[in-house]
Amino acid sequence: MEKQEAKKRAEELRELLDKANKAYYQDAQPFISDKEFDDYLAELEKIEEDYDLVDPKSPTQRVGGEPSSDFETVEHPTPLLSLDNTYNEDELNDFDRRVRELLEHDNFTYLVELKFDGAAIRLRYENGDLVLGATRGDGESGDDITRNIKTIKDIPLHLHNNFPDVVEVRGEAYMEREAFVRMNEHREEQGLNAFANPRNSTAGSLKMQDPREVARRPIRFFSFDMLTDDTDAEITQYQKMKLLDQYGLPVCDHFRQCSNINEVHTQIDEWENLRHDLPFETDGVVIKVNEEKYRDTLGTTSKAPRWAIAYKFEAQQATTTLRKITLQVGRLGKITPVAELKAVELAGTTVKRASLHNEDEIHRKDIRVGDRVVVEKAGEIIPQVISVVNPDREDRGPRFEMPQHCPACGEKLIKLGEDVDWRCINPECPPQVRQRIEHFASRDAMDIDGLGEAVVDQLVSEQLISNYADLYELQTEQLLPLERMAKKSAENLIDAIESSKSQPLDRVIYAMGIRFVGKTVARDLANALQSMDALMKANKETIEEIESIGPKIAQSVIEFFNQDHNRKMVEKLRDHGLNFTMEKQQQASQKLKDKKFVLTGSLPSFTRKEATQLIEKHGGKTTSSVSSNTDYLLAGDSPGSKYDKAQKLNIPILDQDAFLNLIEEEL
Ligand code: IVH
Repeated sequence: MEKQEAKKRAEELRELLDKANKAYYQDAQPFISDKEFDDYLAELEKIEEDYDLVDPKSPTQRVGGEPSSDFETVEHPTPLLSLDNTYNEDELNDFDRRVRELLEHDNFTYLVELKFDGAAIRLRYENGDLVLGATRGDGESGDDITRNIKTIKDIPLHLHNNFPDVVEVRGEAYMEREAFVRMNEHREEQGLNAFANPRNSTAGSLKMQDPREVARRPIRFFSFDMLTDDTDAEITQYQKMKLLDQYGLPVCDHFRQCSNINEVHTQIDEWENLRHDLPFETDGVVIKVNEEKYRDTLGTTSKAPRWAIAYKFEAQQATTTLRKITLQVGRLGKITPVAELKAVELAGTTVKRASLHNEDEIHRKDIRVGDRVVVEKAGEIIPQVISVVNPDREDRGPRFEMPQHCPACGEKLIKLGEDVDWRCINPECPPQVRQRIEHFASRDAMDIDGLGEAVVDQLVSEQLISNYADLYELQTEQLLPLERMAKKSAENLIDAIESSKSQPLDRVIYAMGIRFVGKTVARDLANALQSMDALMKANKETIEEIESIGPKIAQSVIEFFNQDHNRKMVEKLRDHGLNFTMEKQQQASQKLKDKKFVLTGSLPSFTRKEATQLIEKHGGKTTSSVSSNTDYLLAGDSPGSKYDKAQKLNIPILDQDAFLNLIEEEL
């Protein structure tokens, strides 16, 4: 390459990497994968070195993005460095060789930790009190997000057990996979866009302006380093982890001392399998020289220490061809473009389809039919199309054009206000009809056992029903001709439909499938208004007055009841005897008002769901993990780790009898 050409390429790469950095760190919207980023960065580093093109403003000279202007900027007393990455055994052996050469001896050990896939943060404790929490920013300075950090339950506001006067803690904020999925479901229920993966949503959540909203996000924390003024010169990383734990900071259980690089390899193999069973994402392991005293000798490059390295697990990414783009119709008419892919193996499963989210997303990434595309499993949840492999190719197909009509019923699609999604608003659109019925019957709604997708499909296509109210008119004989429907299962289904009539009002409201009305909102509506009639008659102001309900939800409720076909359906449900008022017992006791319960183990006479209902009926709440805010642990047989945690935190532990006593006291 001529120098001129090298200069041009370097410029190009800097621009791309700067954009990618901003997208990742500031907008939490990455458009290239970590591996691609690393590859481009390596290419740039090489060009700069070979052609003597080093530039202080180059992305090779710094760690991440600029701090966002909305928060105060804080300088980090010691930079938060990045890590160099390795992707195979040889590269890891090279690292080991370099360390031994620089130290000129073999007299050291390694500490191997998991690499958490979240966002790095820095905490400062003075006299044991949390005084500062900051993002990594560009490594030199970051955003002061103390108010947000204080909402993270894992992070102690005060340290215990012989803490040093001043201690700086570094660690990773992250989200557990399951909590992430639940949060996304909840967002979709509220008409908000889902996050692509736990890492993005953690980074985005930490930077929100309203700490109350941050508090609702399921952010967790693991610490992995600490700095103090008077650290023992002989300390090891292993001992630091033990100290962090002793001070009350969360430390992941998975860290191991290894006496040489071979032991490190063995540990990596073991964790490569373990990673899928962990509740959170890890994208590799971090290998650190264990003895602190050697860190100074080894030093750092401008962006990463020489005493540590990341070993990245095999990427959850693959490249394949985009065959076509189809449209999926959601229960509420939302149209989602879907990538139909040439089948490709990805982390143990075959991927044929991936979400493209919406029209804007497709245009932003300029994804076209026929392209080679990179697909990634976002937290092993839903595969996504990340980018196009060679967007400058000459012979690409035409730009994607959003169809104007619903693929299922032909109705003209519309876009409302600022919404990014197109919608089909035909109430009789077949996939919407089917999904509404499925939703009505689903476990959290009317809980009609045996009415899954396959049965609903048949009922609708055989024209036995055309909406959920029709379910209550079905007769056993009508079901018998259906596929795989024996007499017994037909009778069971009719029984299940019949007994769903006793579901409480809040479930009926949820089951009707009003946009933005999820389980919680339905419960709030039912509790506040006490009857279906009151709900139907309520005006926007009345609904908005209900705590936790905003104008968007209120508007949606009003619109729902304004539609003729919905009102007719409600009248049919009333005729069939569904619960249109709150049952007495539901409002009965407030014995457990605002008490937070956690359940563990199996109870002798209740399922988990029944116990939850009982708690809620008495005004209590259930949460999934034990914290100092928990009021009671309700424990059955073979309880899990929650039991130990509750004991440690001195939280009252109830068995079934003690629990029943508690609620019957007032009955
Ligand atoms: S040590 C100077 N340990 O990875 C040492 N980092 O690519 C750097 N990370 O910014 C930090 N798990 O956000 C370390 N067990 C772990 C880690 C970890 C995740 C993140 C951290 C860092 C990034 C570097």
